This record gives sequence, C-alpha cells and structure tokens, in this order.
Amino acid sequence: MTPSTSHLWWQTGVIYQIYPRSFKDTTGNGVGDLRGIIEKLDYLSDTLGVDAIWLSPFYPSPMADFGYDVADYTDVDPLFGDLATFDELVARAHERNLQLLIDLVPNHTSDRHPWFIESRSTRDSRKRDWYVWADPQPDGSPPNNWLSVFGGSAWEWDEATGQYYLHSFLKEQPDLNWRNPEVKEAMFDVVRFWLERDVDGFRVDVAHYIMKDPQLRDNPLDPERAKSIHRPMGDYDSQFHVRDSGHPDVHDVYREFRQLLDSYNDENPRVSIGEIHIFDWEEWATYYGEDLDELHMPFNFALLNVDWRAEAVRKVVDSLEEALPQGAWPNYVLGNHDEPRLASRYGREEARVAAMLLLTLRGTPTIYYGDEIGMVDVPIPPEQLQDPWGETLPQMGRDPCRTPMQWTGGPNAGFSPAQTGELWLPLADDYQSVNVERELGEPASLLNLTRRLLAYRAAIPALTVGGYEPVDGVPETCYAYLRETDEQRVLVILNFSDREERVRIAGPERGEIALSSHLDRSGGVDLRALSVRGNEGLIIELVPS
Ligand code: NOJ
Repeated sequence: MTPSTSHLWWQTGVIYQIYPRSFKDTTGNGVGDLRGIIEKLDYLSDTLGVDAIWLSPFYPSPMADFGYDVADYTDVDPLFGDLATFDELVARAHERNLQLLIDLVPNHTSDRHPWFIESRSTRDSRKRDWYVWADPQPDGSPPNNWLSVFGGSAWEWDEATGQYYLHSFLKEQPDLNWRNPEVKEAMFDVVRFWLERDVDGFRVDVAHYIMKDPQLRDNPLDPERAKSIHRPMGDYDSQFHVRDSGHPDVHDVYREFRQLLDSYNDENPRVSIGEIHIFDWEEWATYYGEDLDELHMPFNFALLNVDWRAEAVRKVVDSLEEALPQGAWPNYVLGNHDEPRLASRYGREEARVAAMLLLTLRGTPTIYYGDEIGMVDVPIPPEQLQDPWGETLPQMGRDPCRTPMQWTGGPNAGFSPAQTGELWLPLADDYQSVNVERELGEPASLLNLTRRLLAYRAAIPALTVGGYEPVDGVPETCYAYLRETDEQRVLVILNFSDREERVRIAGPERGEIALSSHLDRSGGVDLRALSVRGNEGLIIELVPS
C-alpha cells in the first residue's frame, strides 16, 4: 500500500497521551519524569506503534492543579527534569518518527507566576490589566454570578488591593486577560519558544475559555441543564456558560495563533488541538475556523459521555460527520486525565470493542496512557487523595484515572524504584495481572489487540484516510460501517451486547476477516450469514464481486 501523500501526520497518525507524573519514574521519588518517558520511547514507537505523544504539563508549578497551574511557561519543573532532558526527549522522539505535542495553558497561570505576583502587587502595577480584576458589587459581593469549574464563585477577593480577580478554575489559577495585547504577545512568545525547541504542536487547555464577556454580565440560569448532564458537576450546571467563556473574539486569537504555527511549518507541519468542552456540534465546529484557519482540531469528547449502546455511538459518529465543516478533519477520544477510565466506564470486554471503534473510525484517535492494557479507575483512600476537585466534588475527583502506569508485575509495577508506598498515587490492585510485560506474553491480551489494530490501521489507507459510511440493517445491538478508498473497502462490525448476533450485510457477498477483537479468527466469511460473538468486533476486507 502506498501511504497517502495528501494527508498530514496528525491526520493519519495516532496520538498517545502521557500524564508525566504517572508514566515512569527514574529518580525514585514516586513521581514520573521526562527521563522515564525517554526510556519508554521504544515501547511507544515499536512495541505499541503510535505516531505522536502529547505530554500533559511539565512546567514549574506549585502543583495546586498538578501542573495546570503554571509558574513559568518556558522551563521544566525539577520534579520532571530540566530543559536539556526535554531537548533530548524531542530529539529521541524524532529519531523514532514520533511527533511531540505539549500542553499549552493559556487561560490561566499559577497565582505564583511572576506576572500575577506583579499584577496583584498594587492597582497601579504595569501588569494589573494582565488578569481580570473587577470591583465588588455595592454590597461587597463578587462582580457577577460566574462559577469556578471546581466549585464556588469564580471570583476571589484580594484584600490588599480591594478588588476581585477571576479564576475559572482554582483560586490558585487566576485567569489572564487576553484582551490585553501584551498578554497575547507574551503567550505567543511562549509558543515560539517551544516551536523553536522543535515541538510538533500543542494541546490547548480549555481553549474556549480565554475570551469572556467584556462587560462581565451574569450567566443566564438554566435549571434544566443539570438534568441533561452525564456527570453532574453541582452548581456549575445550573447556568448557561455563555458569558464566562467563548466570546466571539476568541476566534480572532486562534486565527492569529494558527498563523504563528503555520509560520513554523518548515520541515514538519505543526498542529494545534483545542480542549473544547462544547457539545453543540455547530458551535464546537466554529473552532476549526470559517476557512479552517483556526485550530486544526477541537478535541471531540462526545464518546466520553455516550451510553455504551450501538445506536447511541452511531448517533455520535453520524452527527459529527454531518456537522464537520467541509475539509475539516475529525478526531475521537475515549479517555484522558480528567475522565473515568474507559475499562471502568464500559467494562473490560467492552474496552476491546471500544479499542476497535477508536482505531477504525475516520479521524485522529487519541489513546490515554494505560487504556491500551485495560487499566481501571483505582479507588483512592481519603488520606491519599490528591486532586483538589475531588475535595470539593468527590464524584469529580480525577485521581482514580491518574494512577501509575503498570509496566510489570514486579515492585511498584515497574513504574518506580521508590520504596513501596511512596508513589504519588497508589497502584491498582490488579497490576500483577494487568501490565505491559504480562500482556505482551498473552497472545489475546488487550495490549496485543491494540498493537494489531495500530499496525493494521497504519497499513490500510481505507482506515487512515478513507471515507466513512454507516451500514443499515444490522441487529440493534450492532454498529457497522464501511471505510473505503477507491481501491479498498473495509467493513467494521461491532457487537455491543454479550450475546452472539447473526448479521446479514446486503450487497457484497464475501469478505475476509482481517481482525477479530477476540484475536482468534481470520479467513473468508459469507456476509449474508455472519455470526458475531458477544462483545466482538470484526474488521472485514470486502472482496470485490
Ligand atoms: C483542563 C485540564 O484537562 C484539567 O486537568 C485542568 O484541571 C483544567 N483544564 C484547568 O487547567
């Protein structure tokens, strides 16, 4: 097969998200580090076979929100290493043809960032206007009704200067004022700094939040909203978040940001992926830009909240395909560092079907570390809780999905040379059976399935760049679709139930099974009478009749 020349690496490739604290610790302090990631590059490029890695933040930070509170955008926290190690990571990744994306956190800094320290020092500070400061209402209450995602008012009173500052997340994460051109320039300088260090792109944290209503008007109340929310977030769900984020001038910023990225498209096209929690497709799609001149992709989180039913999943995919602007490239996500683990949400057998779904849909897949071996949410004893969100809203705590990567069945699951018990989060109980080393030795493991899927996807243009066409007339427990180029047609059938189903596909008569998610089946099949076992997914190459 000839690889497509008209598609770019971030369209044909698969991204793997690393949460650096939890991937591999080489110093023995119980926290993962950049050196650990370097040690595992062969795993990523050769054993697994992904194309790009996205690193969650590694910048100097007081770690109030585990790195999403940045105190210096152009350095590495000593906990993770230093700039020289980062440079080595980029070089070693590139040697292996792995692209490297980093997290850009433009909406807020840490309250310990020198910019904020200066901003809050006096009302006359040169950087006062770098953040969003506002006077209290006449009764002393906050300027408006905006709420912090993590709970409570989004405003924090600053006694010394007699004003409130805005924090859409923790009070230790003050929001920057992107309408101040100096802020934009400073953040664009950060972008230049990393592009010059050869990173291949950015995942942009809460990208839509950077522009809010300039008049700071109240959010309208929405008493119904909470009912339609998959994972209720308390009071935050009682409002329409139309004033505290996503003001239309956000698009001007991303157009400029895109021009900046494009100016670095020398040898390798750079990419930007926005973290955009918007579930109205039309609004979501605006972040591609009217002329596809903003973010390359807004992350598509719809599969994180879907019921695990064939019809519901098909609806997500079909509605996305329909909403995509002409020429825009889709993407899918099944897990990340903010969400319950895939295998816990749907089940272990279901996670295999989900892996096949993720790696056969049209668009760029992102795999969350550990999902390839079936890591599950780990219950965290109260004294070991780390995530501040888990303190304000226990159901939202994110520690369970951030536990150490399970490499082996040995001490600390091969994650760390620390003394047992000194890891930043506890290990899963199941690490002796669910780990990379063991699963590599089990022919039908989820890890081996993921490897096979990745290798197959990379080799088959119908999957990497082909069209998507849902197939009607299959049992309601099944979801089937065609992926096709002019030369090649591949049928994917996923059985979401635990019962065997008889499937009859109209049209083509014969096909060759390329892959079963059970990894025990291949060869020719009659598509007029096909049996698909419970929780089985099949990839079938259609034989032209
Ligand atoms: C989204 C990130 O994914 C999350 O981990 C973080 O807490 C918030 N943004 C605030 O930066």
